[in-house]
Amino acid sequence: MLEGGAPTDVVANPLRQGLAEERVPEPAAMVIFGASGDLAHRKLLPALYSLTRDRLLPARFAIIGFARRAMTDEAFRDELRAACAEHARRRPLDNDLWAAFAANIFYQQGSYDDPASFAALKTRLEGIERTLGLPGNRVFYLATPPSSFAAVIRGLGHANLAPPPPPPEAARPVPPPPFARVIIEKPFGTDLTTARALNRDIHATLNERQIYRIDHYLGKETVQNLLVFRFANGIFEPVWNNHFVDHVQITGAESIGVEARGGYFEQAGSLRDMVQNHLLQVVSLFAMEPPIAFDPDAVRDEKLKVLKALRHIPESDFDRQVVRAQYAPGSIAGRMVRGYRDEPNVSPDSTTETFVALKVFIDSWRWAGVPFYLRSGKRLPKRVTEIAVYFKEAPHLLFGRRGESIRPNVLSIRIQPDEGIALNFGSKLPGPSMEIAPVSMEFRYGSSFGVEPPEAYERLLLDCLLGDGTLFTRADEVEASWAWVSRLHQRWADDTAAGRGSLATYAAGTWGPAAADRLMAADGRAWRMP
Ligand code: BG6
Repeated sequence: MLEGGAPTDVVANPLRQGLAEERVPEPAAMVIFGASGDLAHRKLLPALYSLTRDRLLPARFAIIGFARRAMTDEAFRDELRAACAEHARRRPLDNDLWAAFAANIFYQQGSYDDPASFAALKTRLEGIERTLGLPGNRVFYLATPPSSFAAVIRGLGHANLAPPPPPPEAARPVPPPPFARVIIEKPFGTDLTTARALNRDIHATLNERQIYRIDHYLGKETVQNLLVFRFANGIFEPVWNNHFVDHVQITGAESIGVEARGGYFEQAGSLRDMVQNHLLQVVSLFAMEPPIAFDPDAVRDEKLKVLKALRHIPESDFDRQVVRAQYAPGSIAGRMVRGYRDEPNVSPDSTTETFVALKVFIDSWRWAGVPFYLRSGKRLPKRVTEIAVYFKEAPHLLFGRRGESIRPNVLSIRIQPDEGIALNFGSKLPGPSMEIAPVSMEFRYGSSFGVEPPEAYERLLLDCLLGDGTLFTRADEVEASWAWVSRLHQRWADDTAAGRGSLATYAAGTWGPAAADRLMAADGRAWRMP
């Protein structure tokens, strides 16, 4: 269900009937707080440019960058041009298109906790809206450090820049009033207490229907394809449960280290940085029940049930189900790299984890007894995100009598790179004997569709402009995932205080510590080599 009425710019094209729905939002202005930062330069503006190039943004659209630094509109546009030339998916830049796009980009200097800055922003925004004939629809993007989220939202409230929409049950005025939506970047809190406090602060100004909490994994094509794969095909859903699935492995591996983000990462660690958000979102989409409709609340209601059904890891099993580790010096692709403790802005005796492996259960009828093994780490041999579903073996083995075991069927869903899906199964080797060899049926996005998937931020910015919150996390989802993750942090903190607990190390360029292999070996299993 979309908030804010039907798009007005869509021209019906009879040739597209039955094909993908083309969605163009209503004319609007987008204000980006933290506009001089990395995210705006590397992701947001390049995404907006690519959307413009694909004609997915309305013709009347303004971007207002807001940040502390003094800068003219012209200087801001020049900076963004360089950033888009380097990072936009649609490159090289088209000069005419850039000129038209840049003409509607403006810069406003201000401070996040100063009411006068928000009053000035309002005056500027209203002036731009008048000049460009915009109807007053607004999206505010919080790309600031998280410590400023609450202040910016208070500022919006005091200046009455983001009034809440009429309640859904109220008679809807025609035409609908302009919308005001707020996109909030991650991290959303650092534990359950801070996430709850942030939700409370935000809800003092905004209605939940105005809030779009970003998890960029939900904008990835392959993550969305999980829903299509499961619910648009009749043959997979019947086997998507504990009768057929032996276990599931989810890997989020990166070859990069913490780069210039040592200061942030010291406070975060892999559990906060990757698991609480990205990996648990993937788990919830993978494991959820079919929603009653493909609408934001129906989908998120089902995801929430999965997050609430995550079994808390008992004290007695903690060391068998949870592994944390940190990278030591090593070599990746033939290049020596330093260890985590030698990275800039990292303490030389840091105990922050750069790798985590977990064995997790979902207490539901569908998944009872099926272990989900999750692992995520930096400085692993390569960048790969994938889900591998291991199916149970055939109940009665007619073949493989000579002692050789038959490999289980594995469905691997490659989220990135080389996006695709493969199903492994055993096939008879040509020849007179009944020998079996593993083979694979594969689908690759690149070769099937011949296009590069759009950037996650493109999809998410567009969805917010269209009022579709399906791919954004709701307040209760964020709190449910923190509730589960915060217990792990608590246990680590208790261990550290008591001088217990072990932080393993692994050489950069390896698949993590031996303890992660032991976690699997204890169950008679092994990590899949992605
Ligand atoms: C971010 C984390 O949210 O996700 C980073 O803060 C991580 O540490 C990144 O590198 C991974 O995203 P992607 O899209 O490259 O898998």
